[in-house]
Amino acid sequence: MSLSSAPFTVRAYRPSDERGWLRCRVLSFLDTQYYDDVKPDRTVLTDPSIALVAVRLTGEVIGILDVEIDGKAATIDTVATHPDHQSVGVGSALLREALLRLEAAQVETLDAWTREDVAANRWYRSHGFAEQYRYLHVYLNDGDDEAGFVTPGGLSTPVSAFLHGGIEDEARMRARFRRVYVCRQYVRSVVRL
Ligand SMILES: CC(C)(COP(=O)(O)OP(=O)(O)OC[C@H]1O[C@@H](n2cnc3c(N)ncnc32)[C@H](O)[C@@H]1OP(=O)(O)O)[C@@H](O)C(=O)NCCC(=O)NCCS
Repeated sequence: MSLSSAPFTVRAYRPSDERGWLRCRVLSFLDTQYYDDVKPDRTVLTDPSIALVAVRLTGEVIGILDVEIDGKAATIDTVATHPDHQSVGVGSALLREALLRLEAAQVETLDAWTREDVAANRWYRSHGFAEQYRYLHVYLNDGDDEAGFVTPGGLSTPVSAFLHGGIEDEARMRARFRRVYVCRQYVRSVVRL
């Protein structure tokens, strides 16, 4: 049996999964526009929340999904499948289980935020999500024009910065900064209408 078709189960996250959770997240983000969004510790979710992992029979964590709930609305905080196990239904299985739990909790909508990676955008759309809003993620990096950035006395101008911007300024921001992404909000109803 090939590695990528190895069976897996979806279950609730356990504290002992943390190392596998971190490895799965960082490896899956490596080939995306979130490549430098590295966490050394697992995100602490605000309650109520749903935290799921997909694990192989060996115990290896190959998929993670965290959802935070705020009344009738919920947001995907993290969804990631280990790169060796993508496109075999791991993400779909995690989402399916989360939607069942959200429905039981009487949550009505689920949203998610993502940049321009083709696979992630296609995955959201093919799982019933529709784009609702977009804005900019802008990075100031070495070599970019730092004019206008102000720092407290005693400090240099910024070495780097991460900023949000309005979509109406996309052309201007892309002309000035080399690392600019459109960040989209996707939304779907928990129960497919
Ligand atoms: C987005 C992501 C979570 C999807 O996870 P995944 O486990 O690969 O998702 P699935 O296997 O359920 O679906 C992926 C594709 O494989 C296809 N697929 C699912 N099961 C399949 C199977 N048994 N055989 C062949 N193809 C299959 C699906 O049709 C799907 O196609 P689509 O993207 O056009 O909808 C994954 O690509 C990932 O981790 N990306 C990096 C992190 C990231 O971008 N996260 C989200 C933004 S923050």
